[in-house]
Amino acid sequence: MNASQLFNSLWEQYVKESPEALEIYNKFVEFGEEVVNDHIAFRTFDDPRINVEQLAIHFEKLGYEVKGEYVFESKCLRAKHFEHKTDPKQPKVFISELTTSKFSQYLQDKAKECADRIPQSLLGTPELLYSGAIWAHLDYEVYQKLLAESEYAAWLYVFGFRANHFTVYINELKKLDTIEKVNEFLKQNGFTLNTAGGEIKGTPEELLEQSSTMANKVPVKFYQGTYEILNSFYEFAKRYPQTNGSIYQGFIAKSADKLFESTYVGG
Ligand code: NI
Repeated sequence: MNASQLFNSLWEQYVKESPEALEIYNKFVEFGEEVVNDHIAFRTFDDPRINVEQLAIHFEKLGYEVKGEYVFESKCLRAKHFEHKTDPKQPKVFISELTTSKFSQYLQDKAKECADRIPQSLLGTPELLYSGAIWAHLDYEVYQKLLAESEYAAWLYVFGFRANHFTVYINELKKLDTIEKVNEFLKQNGFTLNTAGGEIKGTPEELLEQSSTMANKVPVKFYQGTYEILNSFYEFAKRYPQTNGSIYQGFIAKSADKLFESTYVGG
């Protein structure tokens, strides 16, 4: 599988479950813009069979390397970001994992159960990256219990392996060349932005500004019945040059922490 096949499969899965992202993508295209993807993000548990390093192998095989490491203390997450070694036009890949030892034995057991139920034939293949909640037989009570401890764990239990979000790279847009213009364009077209922590996360001084839509709800089948669950969002990133002139390619922990909250569904 080459990089474009992998990213196409991930995009198809993402827009199937988040059709609003495709609507927005099409609005940009109708407006005469070419949409370039800045990065995609994955979530996983810290189980050694499926942790950050295991998911990263598939990107490393396609020429990616680690370029940044992050810890999100408040969410008990660890993350790495990867960039393509020779082709800067390839999207960056951001992979985070939940530090399950910081949670209850119940959550730890459920995370292990999920990993246990992944078919051996899928582990170690790139298809795992878009296999969804491959552990199947979703239980709404488990979802609610996980949600009480960690929005991230609950989301992962329900949606599994998929791109959590894609990101429009504003620097490559011709007319909508600032994050303010992008946000205005989205609102004029009837889309709702996530305003937790402000519409724009980050500043030009921090070299990265990001905004995102509110997560959309999708029907999910549990064995107790079908429930509407918050799924994922579409993100927009504007990057600024560093003192050496090259564009900053990293992620800001402080601001990414706020973006993690956009699928927060607590009281
Ligand atoms: Ni992101």
